[in-house]
Amino acid sequence: MRNSVLIAVTCLALFVNYSCNTSDKTPENMPAKDHHSFAHPEEAIVRHLDLNLQVDFKAQQLSGTATLHIDNLAKGDKLHLDTRDLRIDSIVLDDGSVAKYDLMPAVPFLGSELIVHIKPNTKKVRITYTTSPQAAALQWLSPEQTAGGKQPFLFTQSQAILARTWIPLQDSPGIRFTYKAEISCPPGLMALMSAENDTVVHPDGVYKFNMPQAIPSYLMALAVGDLKFSAYDNRSGVFAEPVTLDKATYEFVDLPKMIKTAEELYGPYAWGRYDVLVLPPSFPFGGMENPRLTFATPTIIAGDRSLVALIAHELAHSWSGNLVTNATWNDFWLNEGFTVYFEARIMEKLYGKDYEDMATVLAEGELRKTVAALGEDNPDTRLYLNLEGRDPDDGMSDIAYEKGRFFLLNIERAVGRERWDTFLKQYFAEHAFQSITTEQFLKYLEENLIEGDGKLRNTKIRDSKWVFGTGLPDSFPKVHSVELEKAKALAIEFVEGRTIAPPGNWTTHHWVYFLRQLPQQLTLPQMEQLDKQFHFTDSGNSEILCQWLELCIRSNYTAADTSLEKFLTSVGRRKFLKPLYAALIETPAGKEKAKAIYAKARPGYHSVSSGTIDEMLQ
Ligand code: BES
Ligand code: ZN
Repeated sequence: MRNSVLIAVTCLALFVNYSCNTSDKTPENMPAKDHHSFAHPEEAIVRHLDLNLQVDFKAQQLSGTATLHIDNLAKGDKLHLDTRDLRIDSIVLDDGSVAKYDLMPAVPFLGSELIVHIKPNTKKVRITYTTSPQAAALQWLSPEQTAGGKQPFLFTQSQAILARTWIPLQDSPGIRFTYKAEISCPPGLMALMSAENDTVVHPDGVYKFNMPQAIPSYLMALAVGDLKFSAYDNRSGVFAEPVTLDKATYEFVDLPKMIKTAEELYGPYAWGRYDVLVLPPSFPFGGMENPRLTFATPTIIAGDRSLVALIAHELAHSWSGNLVTNATWNDFWLNEGFTVYFEARIMEKLYGKDYEDMATVLAEGELRKTVAALGEDNPDTRLYLNLEGRDPDDGMSDIAYEKGRFFLLNIERAVGRERWDTFLKQYFAEHAFQSITTEQFLKYLEENLIEGDGKLRNTKIRDSKWVFGTGLPDSFPKVHSVELEKAKALAIEFVEGRTIAPPGNWTTHHWVYFLRQLPQQLTLPQMEQLDKQFHFTDSGNSEILCQWLELCIRSNYTAADTSLEKFLTSVGRRKFLKPLYAALIETPAGKEKAKAIYAKARPGYHSVSSGTIDEMLQ
């Protein structure tokens, strides 16, 4: 008894102590200090953006104007903005005067601070500018790089701090603004944004957008290409290239049910429509939660609807992330950890506990691998990160996603689903359209869930190791999957040399787990046997294929070389590229092979992916 009181008191002391030291103190309703932005929002803050851009595929440039509507809170004479690789042509104030400005020298990955000289009563600042063909957010694809092969394609990826490479703005997740845009593109193409979208091609190539809800800059998004729309119901549908549209429509058919399920869990969907845009395969992520219009990789189209958890994930961000946003990139786990937790709840409700248990066990395995690779004492294994002076991309590991999710699962188990769900629903409602720091969340958790509950106060919920400690705490929740045990048993049988016969109803999760349970290296006869029996080398399922190709590299199974090269030169999704290039580098002859493939593949990758692989292959 005495012991437990002592532990509780120590934990509380740690908790309070840590939380006091962590984030920079800011007055109520003021954005927290963001080390990845040059903005001074406490002086003057952007509330609305009017964007007017021409899309020039030949020059690979966007050019036009960004008109920023500002609240000059301090009535000062400077507006500090973020830009990177932008050519600023001129700046005009709302009184018609030409503004002076200073474009500061570029800082690595943060870009150039733009200081506009304004007046105490300035409300609007119009910036005429042009993007660079190297703008990191933009990927310009030639027709050959698309599925249809006839028209060029452009898409943006603004998260985390790439919005500044295509729009001069205050590029910080703690600052929200509404926007309107007019985009002119070559006739015949369709332009879409993270806003209210039309679903038909405009013959003149001019598209107007309105985003009436305030969003942070990392959710600014634009795509232009040969696109067509297919509706599921009156609030959801799919955009894709015409040759992909039928497959995509089939794959995501449960979308309306997912939205309904998400709403049943944590309250009404706040953004009007929810559509998915399927991008060409070079898209560097699985998905991106651009409001109203999730961007998705075509590698989740497996033909059997088995990889749609990613859609549930991006949909969940409509609450965790887009409604309640991490205040800075140090608080990234508040976006992703909550979203993985929410995604799991949607998937469990729709597809059952067996399904989600498999996903959770697989995720725990990946998390443990990440922690082992980073090292248990690595500060990057903390949920609350310190990314000052670093590229926020460095913090985007499994830790935020999976350690974050398991922390929340731990709380769920301690308080029970009912209370936890009530708490979460209230958390989303009370923080809607706001940003939140880790410290604020912990305070809210303390006040609304823990305080006043004698039993809870002594539990491991407040184990500060989850948020501020490295590695994985002892209170890590136990997860188990009966189905995956079967897959493991079969992997053991195979290694022991027995003939295996997996049941016909095995899912992607079973196969991925089966492959992960095998030794890192197999013999040639073993590889041949597996390939002959299960045709992994020809798999159309990107998750299974990637797992298999990694094993092929480690086992030097050259029969898969063509498939490997095809995969690496056609897919740009970083999650797949990283383990494959990493495995190549580790094998004796692999580094040269990796370099040869990369030389062909690199022009087709988005800067997000080529940046990572450049570093790996240095
Ligand atoms: N918002 C992220 C993608 C992202 C994170 C882009 C950080 C840039 C910086 C998105 O919601 C995401 O998590 N995508 C995952 C999906 C997966 C976890 C289901 C991806 O792309 O793999
Ligand atoms: Zn996410």
